[in-house]
Amino acid sequence: MGFHTFPMERADALEDPSRYRFCSREELLELLAPTAEDVVADLGSGTGFYTDDVAPFAGTVYAVDVQSAMHDRYREKGAPETVEFVTSEVSALPFADDELDGAYSTMTHHEYANPLDADSAGDESPGDAVAELARVIRPGGRLVAVDWSADGTGEDGPDLGERYSLEEAVAQLEAGGFTIESARDRPETFALVAVR
Ligand SMILES: C[S@@+](CC[C@H](N)C(=O)[O-])C[C@H]1O[C@@H](n2cnc3c(N)ncnc32)[C@H](O)[C@@H]1O
Repeated sequence: MGFHTFPMERADALEDPSRYRFCSREELLELLAPTAEDVVADLGSGTGFYTDDVAPFAGTVYAVDVQSAMHDRYREKGAPETVEFVTSEVSALPFADDELDGAYSTMTHHEYANPLDADSAGDESPGDAVAELARVIRPGGRLVAVDWSADGTGEDGPDLGERYSLEEAVAQLEAGGFTIESARDRPETFALVAVR
């Protein structure tokens, strides 16, 4: 919903392997299905927990985060050679049109996506970040979002009021011109694959 900075004093929690309870490496790779030559972006990469998982399977992974302190933390940990750091908001990416073969976000869609707004003509606007993703992902490229669901229990993750439901996230991406390839709701999270 714009962006939230993540408290750096809690950054270690992003490296906790118990997070695979909500999204595993295997699931993420299945959803994104990168090829060894693909150029992809991890949107809101944080400490690089899931960037590290995708990096061995892609040509380049841009670690995109609005917080340069997160990039510093990731550099201290050590990043694979295929990772390039980009300090930017998702709504203003320094990429050329159609530059990316794909993009993904884990537990971050609710931070960068905006609620759908009907304009004066009654048409729904996708918001800056989704429109920007439609600009930089090439036609046929995938956008994967695994995020906390507003229909979850709130047992972990942000407050329910800060989250989107699967239906809301689908509507946001469709308003941006993406076609939904798969959309799954789970007990605490949703997993979405959209195609540009
Ligand atoms: C909850 S953390 C998740 C990090 C990582 N995706 C993971 O699962 O380990 C969200 C991250 O997204 C970044 N972020 C939030 N809004 C953003 C935006 N609009 N553009 C770029 N980064 C953003 C934050 O700085 C933070 O590092």
